[in-house]
Amino acid sequence: MGAETDPTATIDNELSALREAFLPRFRAATTEQTLRDENAKILGKKGELTRILAMLGKAPPEGRKAIGAKVNALKQEVEAGFETCLRDLRKAGREADLSAPPFDLTLPGRVPVALGHKHPISIVREEVVAVFRQLGFAVHDGPDVEHEANNFTKLGFPPDHPATDMQDSFWTKSNHLLRTHTSNIQIRAMTTLKPPMAFIAPGTVYRRDDDATHSPMFHQIEAFLIDRKVTLAHLKGVLAEFAERLFGPNTPVRLRPSYFPFVEPGAEVDIGCVFCKQSDGTRAGCSLCKHTGYIEVLGCGMIHPVVLENCNIDPDEWSGFALGMGLERIAMLRYGIPNIKLMFDNDPRFLAQF
Ligand code: DAH
Repeated sequence: MGAETDPTATIDNELSALREAFLPRFRAATTEQTLRDENAKILGKKGELTRILAMLGKAPPEGRKAIGAKVNALKQEVEAGFETCLRDLRKAGREADLSAPPFDLTLPGRVPVALGHKHPISIVREEVVAVFRQLGFAVHDGPDVEHEANNFTKLGFPPDHPATDMQDSFWTKSNHLLRTHTSNIQIRAMTTLKPPMAFIAPGTVYRRDDDATHSPMFHQIEAFLIDRKVTLAHLKGVLAEFAERLFGPNTPVRLRPSYFPFVEPGAEVDIGCVFCKQSDGTRAGCSLCKHTGYIEVLGCGMIHPVVLENCNIDPDEWSGFALGMGLERIAMLRYGIPNIKLMFDNDPRFLAQF
């Protein structure tokens, strides 16, 4: 057999050629990807070294072992060479990053960043809180999950009142409930503080209600005042001041007798319709105020003596008033929002308008 046809010699030649060539090829790669591509051309399934390995089968058995060892040695060299080049390439990349001119962090962004802002309910809550703080009211807080006594019983709700029903309120297995109004804070304040007191209590409330004007979760603010010789006139004065500061000067206020278990007398409060108000202050009537010129905004009344007694406060010495309003309703009036759901969907196109 002549040297030129000896597969062992051919394999040997090819191994030598590859040994010479692989490192310069790796070194020539300037990116990780081209380095990996070059490595695959040699060690991949159809790679050059893999092909040489396949030729081993044709070599005479006596030389096969030695040449096999050479192939394996080269394979290890190629692998080690690849790793070294990869490491060098990454190191060079990192050094280039570090020595590049620094970013100017003070440059303004190319795309203006849209700023978020307050939700209409938050805006209105802060406004109402600000008005009552100006009038000298403190701000109280309380839990969303409440005892039946604080939410209903001590406020004078009879045990069979519909609001106490499973169908109307959210009850827990342990017979607590998600408070249905912020009036629970009245009881919490009266059972922990001594009169006189004046506070408001903003908070989230829950009812089993869900349509265009009702949401199962909504927001209320309660206002509450106890002192000696408080009369309905004080209540009306606070309401007039509130309406004026929130809805503008000379906003008419009217009280309509109404029933709430914890007040006597109780009333619903209307303000002059904000929708059909003319520039001269007159109101023509519109569909939103059902052509009455007035719109309902809250419930109020003089604290019922029984409620005071339930909290160990002497009704002969102390009297007071309470009022409660829905913040969604105030926001809808304030901004002419037609559907309460818009305030819970939180579509940015809606929110951006406030
Ligand atoms: N708690 C009542 C409600 O949820 C609102 C209310 C009415 C609060 C009269 C009061 C009040 O403090 O005096 O509808």
